[in-house]
Amino acid sequence: MCGIIGFAGREQAAPILLDGLERMEYRGYDSAGIAVRSATKGLQVKKTKGRLQVLRDLTHDGAELEGTLGIGHTRWATHGEPNDINAHPHVSENGRIALVHNGIIENYLEIKEQLQRHGVTFTSDTDSEVVAQLLEFHYNECHNMLEAVGRVLRRIQGSYAFGIICSDYPNALIAARKDSPLILGFGENGNFIASDVTAIIKHTRDVVYMDDGEIAVVTAENIDVFDSEMNPLEKKHSQVDWDVSAAEKGGYAHFMFKEIMEQPEAIRKTVSPRVREGRVVLDDLRLPAEYVRDISRIFIIACGSSYHVGMVSKYNWERLLRRPVEVCLASEFRYSDPLVDEKSLVVVISQSGETLDTMAAMREAKRLGARTLAIVNVVGSSIAREADDVLYTWAGPEIAVATTKAYSTQLVLMDLVGLYLADLLGTVEKSEYDAILWELQTLPEKLEQVLTHVEDIQYFASRYFNHNSIFFIGRNLDYAMGLEGSLKLKEISYIHSEAYASGELKHGTISLIEPGTLVVALGTYAALFDKSMSNVVEVKARGAEVLAVTTERFREKMEKTADSTVVVPDTHPILQPSLGVVPLQLFAYYVALQRGCDIDKPRNLAKSVTVE
Ligand code: AGP
Repeated sequence: MCGIIGFAGREQAAPILLDGLERMEYRGYDSAGIAVRSATKGLQVKKTKGRLQVLRDLTHDGAELEGTLGIGHTRWATHGEPNDINAHPHVSENGRIALVHNGIIENYLEIKEQLQRHGVTFTSDTDSEVVAQLLEFHYNECHNMLEAVGRVLRRIQGSYAFGIICSDYPNALIAARKDSPLILGFGENGNFIASDVTAIIKHTRDVVYMDDGEIAVVTAENIDVFDSEMNPLEKKHSQVDWDVSAAEKGGYAHFMFKEIMEQPEAIRKTVSPRVREGRVVLDDLRLPAEYVRDISRIFIIACGSSYHVGMVSKYNWERLLRRPVEVCLASEFRYSDPLVDEKSLVVVISQSGETLDTMAAMREAKRLGARTLAIVNVVGSSIAREADDVLYTWAGPEIAVATTKAYSTQLVLMDLVGLYLADLLGTVEKSEYDAILWELQTLPEKLEQVLTHVEDIQYFASRYFNHNSIFFIGRNLDYAMGLEGSLKLKEISYIHSEAYASGELKHGTISLIEPGTLVVALGTYAALFDKSMSNVVEVKARGAEVLAVTTERFREKMEKTADSTVVVPDTHPILQPSLGVVPLQLFAYYVALQRGCDIDKPRNLAKSVTVE
């Protein structure tokens, strides 16, 4: 996902822009650039393919560019390959306008052809450059940048967050957003635009989240916001409450490891404010009881690891609520003519709150009459603001592309919501309700126990990191948990891996098991442990090497059969995946470490996928 930063202030802009881009590197990118307006040199633009350090070297850490007004961008390529020309900022033909863009302009080709017929020449293959050229076209007509921006926004179709500067305007930058997030920051020495808070939290906690269709004019002194008809708007300010260190490594080698270790605290922050006098309290949930009782079907819609949370929750919610729960990949749901109606509860899960597939699926569900509940980590994100209800996971900023603490807090928040709804429906016994809630509150301590055995996992990773295909097998909740373990491994170590319902192996896939194949066997779901054990024996009989994950209760049995065994504490069955997943996260981390992979910024991946 691209990153945008802009500054209008009383300090040199370039170093501030570079620092902000550095804090957004976790979003994934392949090129970067900045543009600064100078009183004597007009627009100075420096952009290059590769890591941000290349841009720092090119600009001597920004010293090469003088001026107090500028924009910056890290690009995750969608249209046009990663190279210097396609990097942002894009500049209009006469060199007066520079623009950075996050999103996709869907009608860029027809606009490009129209402009070419007017004699405009293009240098890049991007959709974003078309907007810069179209801006100049309209600016030449009306000689007013704000008016030109309005005309352009009415002409283009697609998603965008723009930062725009013009050499004719020495003190102001213009921002606009639709579907891609953009934040306004009010600082002491100047004002900001940014794709997310991490880029500017060092300078300010006083922010405004722009809404779709809005335009902002940002100067050192103030920020004016307008709607698409250019009517001035009064926007609500928010105060960012997490500290700068939360978005820094804090001495850990990688953000991913830091965030794995932060899971106990992240779960405490997610659970404890929502338990009062032995009851689950969800103050920010406005689901009327009569609505809940009338729910005919529940959909859980998400992507990637968030989808895996949905897979775990399906088993748990059907057990608790006795209602059908359908888990859907967002990218499939939106094109599958879903059976959603006003009696459907649609739960969307998203760490970033910006995943386009999930956002589009939620909009489709709303169009079909469903009530939507968003489980989100990033406060004020687009999905959070558009859902009928939103519950935050309070995991704090998650920087590593491979999610861990956000996944874990999504799991426990879904457990809390499941309990809350089951209580409303009267489908859970008080003793069961109390047992689950008690175990939820002791989960952080049990997680801390798991995290004291990281060396064991590191040892297993050193034995197995050379495998080129690894299976994760399990039944029921173990299978759902295995999906996440497999994705973690694929994402950061680039080893092919597959999670399989172990009862299904005999229907085909077991043909792939041969001497030396590594199988990670998950045996933490007590009700089916014996069945899972028979599958371990099955693969062992075909020469597989088995790394098992089980609970204290089954340690002895598992150690007799598996080649290596990792043991986690016992807890309530519904919560067991919250403990079992941690060794899988650590296994992926240490295997990737052994293989010298870029753990926090894996190839081809972005922290949030805001494109189709
Ligand atoms: C998880 O490690 C991946 N980074 C990815 O699968 C992610 O879970 C997915 O893109 C969904 O992102 P979201 O939770 O921000 O919507």
